[in-house]
Amino acid sequence: MTSVELIPETSAAEQLVADALAIEASPDEAARVSGSVPLWFHTFALGADVYTPGVARDHGYRLGSLDLSRFEGKSVLDVGTFDGFYSFLAERRGATRVVGLDNEQYVDWVDARFGVTLEGGAGFRAIADLMGSRVEYHRMDALDARDLNEQFDVALCFGILHRVTDPVSLLQTLADVLTPGGEVVLETYGSRLAADTPAIEVRESGDVYKRDEFVYWGFPAEALRRLGAIVGLNEVEVVDEVEIDGHPRILAVLR
Ligand SMILES: C[S@@+](CC[C@H](N)C(=O)[O-])C[C@H]1O[C@@H](n2cnc3c(N)ncnc32)[C@H](O)[C@@H]1O
Repeated sequence: MTSVELIPETSAAEQLVADALAIEASPDEAARVSGSVPLWFHTFALGADVYTPGVARDHGYRLGSLDLSRFEGKSVLDVGTFDGFYSFLAERRGATRVVGLDNEQYVDWVDARFGVTLEGGAGFRAIADLMGSRVEYHRMDALDARDLNEQFDVALCFGILHRVTDPVSLLQTLADVLTPGGEVVLETYGSRLAADTPAIEVRESGDVYKRDEFVYWGFPAEALRRLGAIVGLNEVEVVDEVEIDGHPRILAVLR
């Protein structure tokens, strides 16, 4: 029998992040929605002290570095949105239009890691309904974002660049769907190589997260700078490099 991970309890740190998007449902609604999805990636503060048990860890550093005022009056694309926390947060913080997309690759690794059969988009739809959100969701590969025929002021690219086989193509796609002066806000798997190493680390299947075959790369800061330059995003501001739950992560804004 293949062993799987237990779904961890959510942490106080995750609940603090979730509080930035307090939803304030009634106790019954909050309990119903939390129980309606068999695995949550994001922790949501549903109301009445009910938090979804999100498996994602330590997103606090993202909020600290994000500057949530950047969404005010902006159109936002969120690639690899999963349960949509950052899409809904952008909407709450004044974005005029938000599109979230995901190819629902996570259905496979959620099954492999946790032994849970998850319907694609289930968490996103549950929160969108609860919030009466206007965020538009597409089951779609991020590499097809040009097919939306739309330009965005901000492209959020969180937790996905290390999961695509062709990171140049993903960044080029995002650069192509930006409005003039737009920005890609990027968070991805980092590297313990020196920050000025002009290389991308190649990870082995399952060595980052057990039984997760979809983590290919680790990026030092210089790799992001050079990748940005390849796709015409010449200003690469590395906002933070941190160790989260034993994993190096890097956050940058590309313009
Ligand atoms: C680790 S999760 C990150 C979720 C969220 N963006 C965050 O950072 O909190 C990565 C997400 O990217 C999605 N994904 C991976 N490759 C993708 C692709 N080529 N196109 C669209 N979504 C993709 C996965 O299905 C998953 O939902």
